[in-house]
Amino acid sequence: MNGAGGAAGDAAARMFGLGGRVAIVTGASSGLGAAVAETLAALGARVAVVARRRDRLDALADRIGGLAVACDLSDPARAGSVVEAAAGKLGPPEILVNAAGSMFTEERAEAEPLDAVRRTLDLNLVAPMALAQAVFPHMRAAGRGTIVNVSSISGRVGVPGIPQASYAASKAGLSGLTAELAVQWARHSIRVNTVAPGFFRSEITGPLYGSERGAEYLRRNTPLPKEGAPDDVVGAVVWLAGDAGSYVTGQTIVVDGGWTAR
Ligand SMILES: NC(=O)c1ccc[n+]([C@@H]2O[C@H](COP(=O)([O-])OP(=O)(O)OC[C@H]3O[C@@H](n4cnc5c(N)ncnc54)[C@H](OP(=O)(O)O)[C@@H]3O)[C@@H](O)[C@H]2O)c1
Repeated sequence: MNGAGGAAGDAAARMFGLGGRVAIVTGASSGLGAAVAETLAALGARVAVVARRRDRLDALADRIGGLAVACDLSDPARAGSVVEAAAGKLGPPEILVNAAGSMFTEERAEAEPLDAVRRTLDLNLVAPMALAQAVFPHMRAAGRGTIVNVSSISGRVGVPGIPQASYAASKAGLSGLTAELAVQWARHSIRVNTVAPGFFRSEITGPLYGSERGAEYLRRNTPLPKEGAPDDVVGAVVWLAGDAGSYVTGQTIVVDGGWTAR
């Protein structure tokens, strides 16, 4: 029987270990971002956790030995100060995970107020780009870096019954941004990818899972017979953030229990 030691064990540690690396994870006060921050820290990274709710960030940072950076990313101009806080306290960031995101309206497309459209784009698309711009000089100087954006299957397919036009546009935009940054920054060995989750239970989807109709809709449309959870998406993020994904760049990886395979 093969054990976990020896050459294979060393290779596994090289692929998935993140010892000595500094990571910035947005949206880390709950849901997927919090789960990603915990896992990156467990793999050895020093993690700056970013969101608005400082109490939650402080508790998480205490638990994982990281740094809490409270910031409202609906103003993308604040990205620079987030990255400088992380770099100043932890060192130059080599990993950026853009998991913060939200929906501001569930109006049908024809009625979406334009200010909600702009707010959605600012938080879900402009802030990730501004953060990528701010980490770029650090990654270029290090000669390596990884950026993982979190989009959604609604950036790929329409979702009947849950109107989300501007949210879908913002998430589709992340895939275009990802391919372009990947090509521009490949020469610096900076990889840029996106993970596009299907539905999983979190604060944002709590009410949907909580209603009988919503839960039945999700069950009916998800081929895998399980309810999605943040941990179901973390593996793809960690793979792309670390050396296990070293030859992958510019891609959008769908993690959706089979939703888009139907
Ligand atoms: N759950 C799903 O089914 C699903 C499916 C596809 C994609 N996604 C995407 O996955 C990502 C994580 O979502 P989640 O499901 O884990 O939801 P969640 O639990 O609601 O987490 C959203 C995170 O974003 C942060 N955030 C929201 N507005 C912010 C702002 N203005 N400035 C800074 N941080 C802000 C929140 O923190 P604060 O409130 O403390 O600021 C929170 O940490 C999002 O990008 C979401 O679009 C989720």
